[in-house]
Amino acid sequence: MAEKRDVVIIGAGAAGMMCAIEAGKRGRRVLVIDHAKAPGEKIRISGGGRCNFTNIHAGPKNFLSANPHFCKSALARYGARDFLALVEKHGIAWHEKTLGQLFCDHSAKDIIRMLLTEMREVGAELRLETTIESVERHGGGFRVVTGDGAIDAPSVVVASGGKSIPKMGATGLAYKIAEQFGLALVETRPGLVPLTLDPVQLETIGELAGVAADAEARSGKTAFREAVLITHRGLSGPAILQISSYWREGQDIVLRLMPDIDIASILKGSRRSNGKQAVQTALADILPRRLAQFFADTAKLTGKQLADLSDKTIDALSASIQAWTIKPAGSEGYRTAEVTLGGVDTSGLDSKTMQAKSVPGLYFVGECVDVTGWLGGYNFQWAWASGFAAGQEA
Ligand code: FDA
Repeated sequence: MAEKRDVVIIGAGAAGMMCAIEAGKRGRRVLVIDHAKAPGEKIRISGGGRCNFTNIHAGPKNFLSANPHFCKSALARYGARDFLALVEKHGIAWHEKTLGQLFCDHSAKDIIRMLLTEMREVGAELRLETTIESVERHGGGFRVVTGDGAIDAPSVVVASGGKSIPKMGATGLAYKIAEQFGLALVETRPGLVPLTLDPVQLETIGELAGVAADAEARSGKTAFREAVLITHRGLSGPAILQISSYWREGQDIVLRLMPDIDIASILKGSRRSNGKQAVQTALADILPRRLAQFFADTAKLTGKQLADLSDKTIDALSASIQAWTIKPAGSEGYRTAEVTLGGVDTSGLDSKTMQAKSVPGLYFVGECVDVTGWLGGYNFQWAWASGFAAGQEA
């Protein structure tokens, strides 16, 4: 005999738990199933353990999707301030770090505890360490077969996330279920991920591993201004993670280091006032020392004095720093990607409810949907908003 519930939610991550709370508030009998040992594992490790739980400026422009309009409805119905109100209701101390990014003062575990408390209050059940064997149409609804038996429900919400960080339990189950029910998928790719360089590039740039600098990272028409970090594999840091979601294999990344500074003008000024200064020393007043040495060496100007440089040479040196063009070989992949781009094609979903248009009762929420946020709390905001939307209907 199968158990009976009103709503079965697959995945006890951010989106699944939010959906459980909202459906539970409507008096629905909710069961959340997860194969992991603990709920919200990605919440726990997010934001360096402090969870960047939303971004106060979150809006449709901060998301990538084949249909940029799809996320509007859910974000309008449940915004950053709604989630912040929930955080405050639970007395969780928070702060804005930078660029509207809100973090817990103490621990990401506060957010997990808050969601579990809310779930308990509405009677939503959580079943962990339970595998999903199949999801089939059954009667007017669905039968979800798990390692522990079957559950029948008129609504199934798929909240099992994307492919990023398989070590943390990511499986791609949502895409399989979507395909099984005839929904289209947008090709998936790792997003918010460090970019790698080939061995030849690493021979030169690799020696800068550990150096960070303020930069604008550009791919095509899109640019992000934040820190760039050079690693022993390639490029990382927030500006690179951001641009990685827009970059494609074969394309260049253009870095404008110290974007607020007109390096050519400064060097020309120093040439007038301090012409005996060595090029690498003058650059070290503007850039981290190792970068200064690297650009002086690359331009074969180490040891030369500023007075020896023509305007043309200074302009070329400055361009090498402020239009530093690098062709990454690839990315670190799902092993370290914070998110999965692409996923369940939004053309098959109702933007107000997240319900599959062709399969009444079947919902997709969170990262498995082709809506991916920038770095900075946007992905959790999408998880909360899409989970909320489905929770009003499922
Ligand atoms: P999520 O992946 O959270 O949950 C899916 C759940 O489904 C998991 O509990 C998993 O175990 C379960 N599941 C998967 N397959 C299953 C199967 N076959 N059977 C049963 N259960 C299954 N975002 C942000 O806004 N701010 C931040 O600070 C960060 N920081 C961050 C750090 C790191 C290291 C990563 C990897 C990611 C982030 N993110 C982030 C992104 C954020 O974590 C992500 O967008 C959300 O967790 C997505 O929420 P979901 O609920 O959709 O999936």
